Amino acid sequence: MAHGMGDWIDIAAVVECPPGAVIERVVGDRIVALASVEGRWHAIDGLCPHQGGPLGQGSLCSGVLTCPWHGWQFDVASGRHRLSATVRQTVHEVREEGGRVLVRLAAPGGDRAA
Ligand code: FES
Repeated sequence: MAHGMGDWIDIAAVVECPPGAVIERVVGDRIVALASVEGRWHAIDGLCPHQGGPLGQGSLCSGVLTCPWHGWQFDVASGRHRLSATVRQTVHEVREEGGRVLVRLAAPGGDRAA
């Protein structure tokens, strides 16, 4: 099924991503890294801007997601690279409903707050 921009898309069961975990989901032609941090959901673009590493397979610690390939680190709430102010991952809206996690994809390179 094709998804239009702005649709809420069911990507996971809540239990699939326990607190402190990050999981990877393919949504159409996009890859999303979904993280659960202290009771809050965050979803950022899952393709590392360095060399395309799988951020959703990285490690999450206190809201900081580390790419498994070369260790670039991102704040999952803001999408910002921790060291470079110019590198920022697209952030998607997330909500929880009935034990499921839904995302609304932002435009590539866009942001929900833009
Ligand atoms: S591909 Fe992510 S740090 Fe290199």
